[in-house]
Amino acid sequence: MRERDLLAEAEPAAAGTPDVGFGVYVHWPFCARKCPYCDFNSHVRPKGIDEAGYLAAMQREIAAHARLTPGRTVTSVFLGGGTPSLMQPQSVGRLLELIGSHWQMSADAEITLEANPSSVEADRFRGYRAAGVNRLSLGVQALDEDALRFLGRLHNAGEALRALELARTTFPRLSFDLIYARPGQSLAAWEAELRRAIGFAADHLSLYQLTIEPDTAFEKLQAAGKLTIPDADAAADLYELTRAITGEAGLPAYEISNHAAPGGESRHNLLYWRYGEYVGLGPGAHGRIVLGDDRARLATVAERNPEAWMQRIAEVGNGVIETEEIVGETAGDEMLLMGLRLVEGIDVARYRRLAGRGFDPERVSDLVAHGMVEVLPDGRIRTTPAGAFVLDAVVADLAA
Ligand SMILES: C[S@@+](CC[C@H](N)C(=O)[O-])C[C@H]1O[C@@H](n2cnc3c(N)ncnc32)[C@H](O)[C@@H]1O
Ligand code: SF4
Repeated sequence: MRERDLLAEAEPAAAGTPDVGFGVYVHWPFCARKCPYCDFNSHVRPKGIDEAGYLAAMQREIAAHARLTPGRTVTSVFLGGGTPSLMQPQSVGRLLELIGSHWQMSADAEITLEANPSSVEADRFRGYRAAGVNRLSLGVQALDEDALRFLGRLHNAGEALRALELARTTFPRLSFDLIYARPGQSLAAWEAELRRAIGFAADHLSLYQLTIEPDTAFEKLQAAGKLTIPDADAAADLYELTRAITGEAGLPAYEISNHAAPGGESRHNLLYWRYGEYVGLGPGAHGRIVLGDDRARLATVAERNPEAWMQRIAEVGNGVIETEEIVGETAGDEMLLMGLRLVEGIDVARYRRLAGRGFDPERVSDLVAHGMVEVLPDGRIRTTPAGAFVLDAVVADLAA
């Protein structure tokens, strides 16, 4: 039996979220090696990757999503993974060309590529830049050799620093990722590592606490009693220290794990957190396409397995295997979960428009009294650092 084309069943809407922007996420699902902590949709293919097949499938995936989003202007593209820096620069150029031929590109569109320090060579960086990439996000993860080994990375600290140096001179904008709250990591050790990292930083830093994800090698180690991460109190202390040091250094948190100099924020990630419109292209990618007006969205989920994704595109014309219309309170909940991660907080009127109702003033006062949220002078609501640390509980309370 032929599979159903779920995207063909939806009607194109004339406008998306022009105030917030329109983003294109492209997922590259391959890595040279699987890291023991990672549950992203990434696969190792020792026999090689069918890059041409991926691009051919992506061409149809882009066309199918463009049909539903006519007249949009792309404000950001994010090439994420997996390890997109395993892609040939010509392939990145081809992807950007395809995106530019299906949608209008904003003159100052932010185009980010995620790269691993071990998969970079000078020529590739220059090639990505020539292809149109104007922001690099580098997966440094740690500056300490033992920690890099523990995290199962293929690069050492020297390689990370060389990649950072090269990226700085090649791209107008640069971010890098670190993972902290590692087993046994003291406040003093993290402070020293973070201060050193800030010395290499440009306009943006992503600092993630190590989380043990289901079905990862670290989960098995933890279950066997061979891996212990800092408990909630220690993690909260590390988080507070991180906020204080980055703030002092002029790279304050603008989101739970993301820090930037003013103007250096990731526009693409801001689009997610501001509940803007984006298409998710590639294996396992998620999208939110506006239907009708800003109040209704089509949530899309693509097939996760790369080969099955290609197969589905060959048969149906796109890789989407699940769609759901998101309206009313569900849309309001999503907006809260995203927006309350941001230091700028959320626009209460927009929440009311999406959810079809406002907040219960008593609940808001309670959360304020408990130091979990703040109401700003212009009426926006945001979480305090303590509230952001227990975000799910705050959202559940506000949305109840
Ligand atoms: C999808 S990964 C892609 C980046 C790139 N492949 C790399 O590893 O350098 C995005 C980031 O999520 C973070 N990350 C992934 N799994 C994590 C976990 N279990 N705990 C904390 N951070 C994690 C890492 O910092 C990683 O750089
Ligand atoms: S952390 Fe990055 S390199 Fe490691 S498996 Fe995940 S996506 Fe691949």
